[in-house]
Amino acid sequence: MSKMPPVRPLPDVSMNPTTPTPPQAAFAPAAQQAQASARGRFITFEGIDGAGKSSQIAAVVALLQAARVDVDQTREPGGTALGERLRELLLHEPMHLETEAMLMFAARREHLAARIEPALAAGRWVVCDRFSDATFAYQVGGRGLDRDKFDALEAWVHPGMQPDLTLVFDLDPAVAAARVASTGVDPDRFEREQRDFFVRVRAAYLERAERAPERMCVIDADRAPEVIRAEIERIVRERFFS
Ligand code: TYD
Repeated sequence: MSKMPPVRPLPDVSMNPTTPTPPQAAFAPAAQQAQASARGRFITFEGIDGAGKSSQIAAVVALLQAARVDVDQTREPGGTALGERLRELLLHEPMHLETEAMLMFAARREHLAARIEPALAAGRWVVCDRFSDATFAYQVGGRGLDRDKFDALEAWVHPGMQPDLTLVFDLDPAVAAARVASTGVDPDRFEREQRDFFVRVRAAYLERAERAPERMCVIDADRAPEVIRAEIERIVRERFFS
């Protein structure tokens, strides 16, 4: 992975005693002002349903907030009033597969314009549960739609713009399905898909990660949550705070 310019030392907020403790941050007002005028960073979380992103997203947001980073946590599809209405349809309403694909990008267009880009421009960081990698994994890998069309949509909706860091939670679809089932929540249109759908989605994520190793980190999600959290914390420290 390539390294970005460091932001500022990250205080030790880890609950994992094995994590090395860096020097405590000295937050000089001038440094804070300089930081406020810099563009924020964009971090995304990906993986098949049931891979366990949610609690780790909360941990990363807490870690950044402890470093006095102004963080906006959001999700796709969704993140805006319109996007959340589209999410409702996407997750529950039967539709043509290409309609689904285009609505994902429509929601993303709105999300970028109304929330992500303004936040980044104002120096806030954005932590997002899924982004375009999910469309390549689910609609291209899972649904089998033509990838070229999605390259064009991506180039239209966010030309030259990608997350600064993407964490891909990788897990055997059988294990993930058991986790989804154990929640007892009614499955949505995606969660109801068969195992081979998630095998394809997983493979598409891994293939995409292989082609963008400087941006995408694959996380073995078949481990204890605190072990995963420690690894993610190390990645975030190395990438942004050292
Ligand atoms: P997610 O937020 O992970 O659902 P949950 O709240 O149940 O954890 O994502 C919603 C679903 O949308 C998920 O099954 C993946 C799917 N999805 C796509 O198929 N394509 C996309 O581009 C995105 C962003 C999500």
